[in-house]
Amino acid sequence: MQDEKVIHFTHAGIYQGKTPVLSDVNFEIDHGEFVYLIGKTGTGKSSLLKTIYGDLPLQGGSAWVAGFPLHEITWKKTPYLRRKLGIVFQDFQLLMDRSVEANLEFVLRATGTSDQALIKIKIDEALRRVGLATKGFKMPYELSGGEQQRVVIARAIINDPEIIIADEPTGNLDPETSNDIMLLLRHLNEEFKTAVLMATHNYNILEKWPSKTLRCINGKLQVELPESISS
Ligand SMILES: Nc1ncnc2c1ncn2[C@@H]1O[C@H](COP(=O)(O)OP(=O)(O)OP(=O)(O)O)[C@@H](O)[C@H]1O
Ligand SMILES: [Mg+2]
Repeated sequence: MQDEKVIHFTHAGIYQGKTPVLSDVNFEIDHGEFVYLIGKTGTGKSSLLKTIYGDLPLQGGSAWVAGFPLHEITWKKTPYLRRKLGIVFQDFQLLMDRSVEANLEFVLRATGTSDQALIKIKIDEALRRVGLATKGFKMPYELSGGEQQRVVIARAIINDPEIIIADEPTGNLDPETSNDIMLLLRHLNEEFKTAVLMATHNYNILEKWPSKTLRCINGKLQVELPESISS
């Protein structure tokens, strides 16, 4: 049966190949929720996110992500799963040989939108949402790191995902630009009710904007509510 949560893991196992990374993982994320994922380096944050977007197979237990059961998903279906997710990485991974608009058009065409008028509407809307309405004609290398990360976020939200999955989205940015990106993610979360799951090492962000937090520690995942977050 389909799950009502955006993400719901039950007794799940996260592995890198045959090596267990996190065991007995239990957590859920509601529609519109903002959730952090923390833990020391190598504790399994990226592995958990990769499992969520179908890059690593779930091993044991069950997990629902945006209506897809990871415990029985086939590789053929993972593109459909990923269409429901907005994935943001630390390193920007834009196509450097084409404009911002062309980067966004590439994603839309790859995910099945071919109507030129609709493509234009979606690109304009996504760029407006991330505050780059006038920069669509620019090449990525003509933008600052913060602006490039905004384009990545525009790319992530262009298909109206149920959740943004962000792996250290501010990892390569200076503190002020990190703040701006956080404000943008929070704005998208509040305005459009897009859930966010964000891995971060940045405790300033956690203190400034407390929220539900998943902590990877000793091969387990702990769920912590804002009052009990300690740095
Ligand atoms: N591609 C891979 N192949 C094999 N093992 C891997 C691979 N990627 C990560 N691992 C291992 O899996 C474990 C968890 O790594 P993971 O990248 O999930 O940690 P992380 O919490 O994201 O760390 P960081 O904060 O440094 O990004 C580590 O022991 C790591 O060495
Ligand atoms: Mg990582």
